[in-house]
Amino acid sequence: MINIRPMQKIDLESVINIEQQVQYHPWTKNQFIDSLQSYQCTVIENYQRVVGFCIMQPVLDEANLLLMAIDPEFQGQGLGFTLLEAAINRLGEKCSQIFLEVRESNQAAIKLYEKTGFHQIDMRKNYYPTANHKKEHAIIMVNMLNANIFQFSS
Ligand SMILES: CC(C)(COP(=O)(O)OP(=O)(O)OC[C@H]1O[C@@H](n2cnc3c(N)ncnc32)[C@H](O)[C@@H]1OP(=O)(O)O)[C@@H](O)C(=O)NCCC(=O)NCCS
Repeated sequence: MINIRPMQKIDLESVINIEQQVQYHPWTKNQFIDSLQSYQCTVIENYQRVVGFCIMQPVLDEANLLLMAIDPEFQGQGLGFTLLEAAINRLGEKCSQIFLEVRESNQAAIKLYEKTGFHQIDMRKNYYPTANHKKEHAIIMVNMLNANIFQFSS
């Protein structure tokens, strides 16, 4: 049974556990505590176990997707897509576009974002550090949520 709801303080242990499994440079507990106060934080549960999270930073009529992850045990089952769609819906109608940055090598995330309506608009060269002391590019993507209102009729 899948459930999606706002993240609460009691979820932090599970969220941090997932984050530490999937990121080279995981966010700290304090970063998650600050996010709970300042941003839109969403979790996805499988039978009441938190198995993923998504953090959006709304800014006026836009938002930045700061971080999301699904527990490795539950990846590849459609949960990331379901969570991201729900988090986008939670932003509401006033949000017209969402921006994000993602490592060029993170093809799973890039494919997920494309499936959800994002496309690449830019690239920051040599932006992210890698495990072998090199750098990799950041792909900048946008999801124009209200793009259809700009369509013209002839
Ligand atoms: C990126 C991530 C959130 C995807 O979550 P997920 O639950 O595994 O994704 P889903 O099962 O919902 O897949 C949705 C789409 O993403 C793409 N995708 C997911 N995993 C993929 C993989 N291993 N390779 C290629 N594409 C993949 C596919 O397009 C898929 O759609 P499809 O099944 O119709 O082909 C997950 O892999 C993850 O937590 N990764 C580590 C953290 C991370 O990279 N976060 C994003 C940057 S902050």
